[in-house]
Amino acid sequence: MPVFGDGVRGAGDIGMYAQNFLLSLTARGLGGLPMTMLGFYADTVREFLGVPEDLKLLFGISFGTADQTAPANSFRMGRIPLQQSVVVHDTPGILDAR
Ligand SMILES: Cc1cc2nc3c(=O)[nH]c(=O)nc-3n(C[C@H](O)[C@H](O)[C@H](O)COP(=O)(O)O)c2cc1C
Repeated sequence: MPVFGDGVRGAGDIGMYAQNFLLSLTARGLGGLPMTMLGFYADTVREFLGVPEDLKLLFGISFGTADQTAPANSFRMGRIPLQQSVVVHDTPGILDAR
C-alpha cells in the first residue's frame, strides 16, 4: 500500500477492500486466506514480486479453489456475538435475535 500520513486511513481502506474481495471470492465458490504474517517477510516478497520499496506490505491474500479434503479447511473459528463487538446508539433492540 502507498503510505499517506501515518498510514492508518489507507490501512482501513485496504482492509475494507480486502473484505469485499474475500466475500466476492466466496460468492464465486472460491476461497481466500488473508495473511498479515507475510509482513514479517516483506523484503523477500518485494524481491520475489518486484514490488518497489516505497509500498508497504500490509498483508497478502492467497486465493483459489479450496481443497475441501485438507483438514485445515474444515476448521471453523467461533465468532463472538454481535452484541460484544458492535456499539449501538439510539436504536435499541436492533441486534436482538441476530
Ligand atoms: C487481515 C487478516 C490477516 C490475517 N493474517 C493471518 C496470519 O498472518 N496468520 C494466521 O494464522 N491467520 C491470519 N488471519 C486469520 C485467517 O486468515 C482466517 O481469517 C481465520 O483463520 C478465520 O478463518 P474464517 O474467516 O474462514 O473462519 C488473518 C485474518 C485477517 C482478516
